[in-house]
Amino acid sequence: MSEEKCKRVYITTPIYYVNDVPHIGHAYTTIIADTLARYSRLAGMDVFFLTGTDEHGQKIEQAAKARGKSPKEYADEISGRFKSLWDAFDISYDKFIRTTDKEHEIGVQKAFEVMYRNGDIYKDVYRGHYCVSCETFFTPQQLVDDEFCPECGRSTSIVEEESYFFRLSKYQDRLLEWYESRPDRILPKSKKNEVVNFVKNGLDDLSITRTSFDWGIKLPKSVDDPKHVMYVWLDALMNYITALGYGTDEKLMHYWPAKVHLIGKDILRFHAIYWPAFLMSLGLELPHHVAAHGWWTRNGEKMSKSKGNVVDPKEIADAYGLENFRYFMLREVPFGQDGDFSQRALIDRINSDLGNDLGNLLNRIIGMSGKYFDFSIESDGVATHHGEELKEAEEIFGSVEPYLYEIQTNRYLEELWKTLRIANKAIDTGMPWAKMKEGKEDEAMATIALVANILAKVSVLLHPFMPKTTQTIAGALGFTIDHESYLRLIREGALLERFKIEKVPPLFPRIEEPLVETPAEKAAKEEAKKPKNTEPKKGDAEDSSGANLITIDRFFEVSLKVGTVVEANEVPKSKKLLRLMVDLGEENPRQIVAGIKEWYAPDDLVGTQVCVVANLKPAKLMGMVSEGMILAAKDDDGLALIRPEKPKKAGTAIG
Ligand code: MSP
Repeated sequence: MSEEKCKRVYITTPIYYVNDVPHIGHAYTTIIADTLARYSRLAGMDVFFLTGTDEHGQKIEQAAKARGKSPKEYADEISGRFKSLWDAFDISYDKFIRTTDKEHEIGVQKAFEVMYRNGDIYKDVYRGHYCVSCETFFTPQQLVDDEFCPECGRSTSIVEEESYFFRLSKYQDRLLEWYESRPDRILPKSKKNEVVNFVKNGLDDLSITRTSFDWGIKLPKSVDDPKHVMYVWLDALMNYITALGYGTDEKLMHYWPAKVHLIGKDILRFHAIYWPAFLMSLGLELPHHVAAHGWWTRNGEKMSKSKGNVVDPKEIADAYGLENFRYFMLREVPFGQDGDFSQRALIDRINSDLGNDLGNLLNRIIGMSGKYFDFSIESDGVATHHGEELKEAEEIFGSVEPYLYEIQTNRYLEELWKTLRIANKAIDTGMPWAKMKEGKEDEAMATIALVANILAKVSVLLHPFMPKTTQTIAGALGFTIDHESYLRLIREGALLERFKIEKVPPLFPRIEEPLVETPAEKAAKEEAKKPKNTEPKKGDAEDSSGANLITIDRFFEVSLKVGTVVEANEVPKSKKLLRLMVDLGEENPRQIVAGIKEWYAPDDLVGTQVCVVANLKPAKLMGMVSEGMILAAKDDDGLALIRPEKPKKAGTAIG
């Protein structure tokens, strides 16, 4: 976000696909946007905050079909789940748009018409590498070994389809000028080069209609080509202007251009290349910033339903407290970087940052002010007795805002926490209890008042992150957080004058153990409870715990051998796989493709020994044949290869 004092602030989240239920990644984008919107309102700006759901396209059509529903019925259901979650999370959106809204459809058709009329849209034939299984076209650069799908590894084929195209190539130079027009167009700034390089490599015109399915917005009547529906990204990106009434009732269009489009890094290209080009074609202003955050993973892995490692944001918020969860997400990860979600890290933040640093400080002054001054506080002596500390804290309060312009919420919070340290230290060195004994009541009062004022200011600046908790802290200090108190305490640097402190129940009770099980953990528990009903094979038995026992002959059906890694390489475009050549004492080494890239560098493997299942049927991974499997053990700390304790000749049988 920029520094210029702009009264109107338009903030958006991506609109979420309705082919999946909300998860922690969606919650993250929405919570960042909500925090920025709340901050802007507190600072007195006129904010419009948009979120919503993206409901067209083939994937959604298929997801609905799989559930025996019409696409609209299905979209209604999932869109409703997003909306209820944001309502439960108290997300302060001004509008929740759905791409099935009539006004949106009219607005998108209007935009298509404008771009068509000005010559930026033309009809041609799309020819591309198509993966039938993923139902997606890929560019030759995306393919693995010029043929295989980068998503599922299956073979692709060349398919032709009639399509309308947008003249993206025409906008290449203007896009490059736009990225250079200010250093923070794309946030984090480190992402700019990625986009610039992509554009410099040359832009192809973009296929923006489809004829292979129906669930999409039709072309405008004036174009009259009923076979086609709009490409879902054209439809979706337009939400940012149709929500303001573009093409229908334009009364909110004065909010345009957006201050910031908040998105995840996976959809940066759409927002930083296609979207500004569409806007240029429409003759509209471009957004001030496009800000792309990183991904949340579990134990370093992407979350997915099939892995059972998806984090349900509602469950976490219910267990740990919504605002604690908000604080954690915005404090834990630098904007733009990936973050690993763990309940341990969440618990540590709650116990340490919130409980020890913030909560205890409040308790300390409630206790002391009650004991010594009947809960009455006055700030008169703060400047005299704690001038240095006050100045240091005020400098921080006056300098944190720019971190939010760059969405560096972690830095912003880190800075605020420095003032809590100043406050804690002031108590430790000021020792109000000793001062009281020495009859220096003024000094004791000044220390308590310094801390109360620091807490008051922290609660104002923390308000957009933790709206209710901070209002409770402010309530305990006798004021309410609003634009007025923001101006007084932060902008003018005033102190609270005379006030009464009120007791509050503990804000951040200590948490010892993780409170939520992952779907995989739940499934494992369920499984453990079930009586074992697997038919034992002839000759098998059960041990006393009910586990299925096998005979030695069955064990020997598996051929396990010691192998020596003679070569190891990365697999192009794969985040997980390494290609190993393993000597098993045979004529030629075997090619084995193993999912160990996250834990082992290829060079460290060459010359080491591994244990190999040598009689597995060969399988194809990313278009490569894998002729065996390497044994490894994996737990929460990562993966370790199983190796012979002493070197053994390649091919030695294990058993
Ligand atoms: N419908 C498109 C956006 C259209 S905007 C005009 C879309 N939807 S999505 O539901 O798949 O993703 C929405 C957002 O959630 C993206 O910004 C994406 O980066 C974010 N996340 C999805 N999974 C995520 C994580 N595991 N972690 C963090 N955010 C991730 O894309």
